[in-house]
Amino acid sequence: METAKKEQRVLDPRIDMDRLPRHIAIIMDGNGRWAARLGKTRAQGHEAGARGVRLAIEACRELGVDALSLYAFSTENWRRSATEVNTLFRLMSKYIHKEIDEIDKHRIRVRFMGRWEGLPARAVKDLRYCIERTQNNRAMDAIVAINYGGRAELADAARAIADDAAAGRLRPQDVDEQMIARRLYVPDHPEVDLLIRTSGEMRISNFMLWQISYAEIVVLPILWPDFDKQALCDAIVAYQGRSRRFGGRPETKRKGASC
Ligand code: FPP
Repeated sequence: METAKKEQRVLDPRIDMDRLPRHIAIIMDGNGRWAARLGKTRAQGHEAGARGVRLAIEACRELGVDALSLYAFSTENWRRSATEVNTLFRLMSKYIHKEIDEIDKHRIRVRFMGRWEGLPARAVKDLRYCIERTQNNRAMDAIVAINYGGRAELADAARAIADDAAAGRLRPQDVDEQMIARRLYVPDHPEVDLLIRTSGEMRISNFMLWQISYAEIVVLPILWPDFDKQALCDAIVAYQGRSRRFGGRPETKRKGASC
């Protein structure tokens, strides 16, 4: 990614800019509880959550993080009421139209992670527009997980490999970790360094199961609509305080690892 270190504004002096996580993933949780606490509707909770999305993208860009993955709608979220599902997709479309100029101006590339099948036509149109318009940007990748499930992603990768094997393009004995990683939805960012979850819940919820194998997990006690740049910095400081061993000894440095 084309980050110029000198231009980076340090948001928090505690952050060591030489050991930033390259890929941050966020499970945005707590919109409903935030709304209930304030006597608001769930729709208002999600609306307030959209502000957190903007702040997370802005802060990651200002710091010089390469990629930010956001869990916006899971394969399990279809179980919510039709009203809430419609609200979420309407909100995503509204967000795209409101923020696209700013996103593009800052040279952020928006990418999609999930299954296109089953998405409302309007959401597909707006997402495709956003992806195509920003496809040449290289300052940072903002990867939105929509109709996404970690198990579904691995099943899709397995099916693609099985198709290739059946067609004689590969042999079963050639299947290895790299081959699976290359068939993930966004294959050029196969590793997450830092996984953040808000609302205090200690769950992975089927998010990026392959990519988080060696991620540091930071659970923040705040609800997603209260997420701000300081919360992101707090998570990065916690991440930088960890000793990442990747299954090896404390001094082990993994090739390409940022911390
Ligand atoms: C979790 O809160 C949040 C979601 C299911 C969706 C995340 C969506 C947004 C932040 C809205 C905007 C998104 C984009 C990409 C613009 P919850 O409803 O599970 O909260 P609860 O657990 O407190 O009920």
